[in-house]
This record gives sequence, structure tokens and C-alpha cells, in this order.
Amino acid sequence: MPELCWASKKPIAPLSAALRTEGVVYPRGRGYPTAEAVNRLILGDNLAVMSALLPEYVGRINLIYADPPFYTNRRYPARIGRGEDSRRPQEWQLAEGYPDHWPNLDAYLDMLYPRLILMHRLLAPSGSLYLHLDWHANAYARLLLDEIFGPDRLLNEIIWVYHGPSPIRSAFNRKHDTILAYTKSARYTFNADAVRQPYDASTVKAFAATPKAGFGKKPNLERGKVPEDWWYFPVVARLHRERTGYPTQKPQALLERILLASSNPGDLVADFFAGSGTLAVVAARLGRRYIASDVTPRAVQTMHARLASETDAPFKLQIGQVDGDAPRGDAPGSFADELSPALISLAVVDAHHMSVTLDASLLADLDLWEVDPAWDGGIFRSAVQVARSRRERLAAAKAVAPLLTDSAPVCIRLYFAGGEKAQVVLPKPVG
Ligand SMILES: C[S@@+](CC[C@H](N)C(=O)[O-])C[C@H]1O[C@@H](n2cnc3c(N)ncnc32)[C@H](O)[C@@H]1O
Repeated sequence: MPELCWASKKPIAPLSAALRTEGVVYPRGRGYPTAEAVNRLILGDNLAVMSALLPEYVGRINLIYADPPFYTNRRYPARIGRGEDSRRPQEWQLAEGYPDHWPNLDAYLDMLYPRLILMHRLLAPSGSLYLHLDWHANAYARLLLDEIFGPDRLLNEIIWVYHGPSPIRSAFNRKHDTILAYTKSARYTFNADAVRQPYDASTVKAFAATPKAGFGKKPNLERGKVPEDWWYFPVVARLHRERTGYPTQKPQALLERILLASSNPGDLVADFFAGSGTLAVVAARLGRRYIASDVTPRAVQTMHARLASETDAPFKLQIGQVDGDAPRGDAPGSFADELSPALISLAVVDAHHMSVTLDASLLADLDLWEVDPAWDGGIFRSAVQVARSRRERLAAAKAVAPLLTDSAPVCIRLYFAGGEKAQVVLPKPVG
């Protein structure tokens, strides 16, 4: 079988790495503080993250969606503040998103190859990998996947088509991505009935008009058809209700079709290039367990706010690092900035609740704030989250939190659009 070779090609062995839990988020307080958080949101390079997961998860993940940088040699800025919801470019504020810059193709393949090998190891025997790329690197990736999974394991080469403005004048406009779907074995999950769609009106009409339509083979028109391997879904730029401002965010409808076809309720699914967390959000909605990781703190902050406001299941906030690496100052649990306690007031509402009110000066550019009503000084258990909604300029300044019987202090954490974060620890209110 032909193989792709380049000078620095090597199947790097898994690294010695570990995950550390720094927080648990209970969206809208559901299950706080006892529900088990089976979902994970992890900050870290996915080589370290997947290496750390291997001992527990080898052969256990049912579906992996991978949407890595495409080898475009561009930088992708994020839109922050209220800008992401605005259709007026003058309101956009830009901040660093993520880079897709490589010295050459070899360096890109050095990144991709060992990660695809780890994904293959993590997949369950009936599991599938969907690798999302475009014309820049999909041909190389196809050869890598043939080598790792075997050429017979190619399930589909899916073409996602979309439309939108383009500056290209010297070629046809490039308006499709390629999603390479591979299965770990010949016995794989594929729920055809979960993704059926209605036949075109013209097909239905043709069968109604004459019994000879379809050369006598009449499909089950009521049941609908299994979609073709080319899909049309609008890009997120056109879906104002979905937009987070994180660059190259994918539409939920695309992930929904992948999840419905290649996983079952209760399955474990993963996205190690998770960005704004589209896979995790849809997975939670469809009753799947998820692992989402990204190396960029802005991605993790975006997912944190999105999962807290759009999903119900608790999730752990973790950091994944190579053993011996210095602790990261931007880890989910690292808060160097302590706010003045005077900026936040707590008051007893009744025997079981307290109110938490932020000073108005804190609200500018505040994306998310959350409350741990019984801070143990180690793992932040978020019982209340207040995220700035896409339609509002400012987040709400007031929330009600549980008032617990123990004497532990209350910790409030704030996350700003520019990526800054701060916390304050206050004594439990009495009254
Ligand atoms: C194309 S975006 C993913 C977008 C995502 N599918 C969504 O819907 O928002 C690629 C992501 O991969 C992340 N990334 C790049 N290299 C990584 C690495 N080595 N480990 C973890 N994440 C990485 C980037 O930070 C970026 O967020």
C-alpha cells in the first residue's frame, strides 16, 4: 500500500502526562453539589490530553470529531464583547483567536500524525473518527488515515457545501470542506434511521405521477432517505443565534447529523480541537457524554460560558499537562487577580438562599461570572453562572445562590471578554 513519507515522520509514543481537576460546573445549579460530573472540559495541548486519557479510555470513546487547523497559514481572530452578535463591522472588537501557521507542510504533518494515532487508540471497536479539513491538507490526511485505520475503514468522504462572499477572482470560489469518516472496525455504529430526511418534492411528485418512476423501484417515501455524502448547511456567519465570536465555529446542524449517525444516547464522544465547543453542546443536548479540549484559553473560556448556559449536565474543568511542566498561569483554577471585596455584596434572602450583587463598575466587558457558595480553596464548584446573553450589552448584576449550613467562604469568579479573569472570596453572610 502506498504511504505518505516526509523527512521528520515519526509515530511519537504517548507522553507521560496527567489531568488535574480544577473546577466542577453545575449549569443552573442542577445537581449541585453531589451529581457526578462525567463530562470534561480540558485546557491543554491534545497530545498531552490524549496521552493522559489513554490509561482510562483506551478503546472506550465511541465517536471522535476532529476539526484541527486546516493548514491555511492564517491567523484567526476572535470577535469579542457584543461584537459577535452585531451585523455591523464597526461594532466588532477583535482579539487573538488561534493560529494556523506552519513553517512548512512537514511541520503540519508532524502535528497531525501522532494525534490521529492517539485518536485511533482511544476509539472503541465500534467507534468512528470524523476528520474535518479542506483542500489545503485533506489529501495528505486521507493517506495518513488509510495507514492508521486501513484503507477499507473509510466510511465516507463527506463534502460539506455552503455559500457566502468570496474575494477569489482567478478560480472557482472554494465553498466546501471535506470530512473524512473512518471506522475502527467493520462492526461500527451507524444509525441510518436517525438521520433520514424527506425526499425532494420533485421525487415524491414523480412517484405519484406514474408507477414507472424509478424504473419500478419505489422507495419508502414516508420513511425518508439516508442523506447523500454531500451536505448543505449554512455557515455560522449566517446563523446569528449560534454565533459565539470564536473563529471557524461550525454549525450545530452539521455536528447533530454526525452525532445521530455515529453514536447512541449515553455514548462517550470527544473533540480534542474543540474551539467554541459545538460538538460538546450538541452532544449534551442529545444525551451523549463528552470530552472537549483545546489548547487556547479563549476557546476554553468560550466553551465554559456556552456549556454553562446552553446545557444541563455538570462538567469538570481540567488542565492536561506533560509531567514536569511548570504550572500554567492561565489554568482554569489559576486566579492571580483578587478583586476588592467592596465590589461585591452578599445578603441572606431566606434560610437556604443568598443574593450576590456585583458593583456596576464590574459589568463592562464581563462575559461570565459564577459563584461557589462553599469554597474549599481547591476545586471551584460553580453553583450559579451568569453569562452575558448574545442580545445584551451587559450581564445581569444580581443572582441568587444557595446558602449552605457549613461555614466555608463564598468565592465569586469573573471572566472578561479580553481574557482577563479575577476572583473574590467573601465570608458567608449571616442575618
Ligand atoms: C477549527 S478550530 C475548531 C472549531 C470548532 N469545531 C468549533 O465548532 O468551534 C481548531 C481549534 O483547534 C485548537 N488547537 C490547535 N492545535 C491544538 C492542539 N495541539 N491541542 C488542542 N487544541 C488545538 C485551536 O485552538 C482551535 O480552537
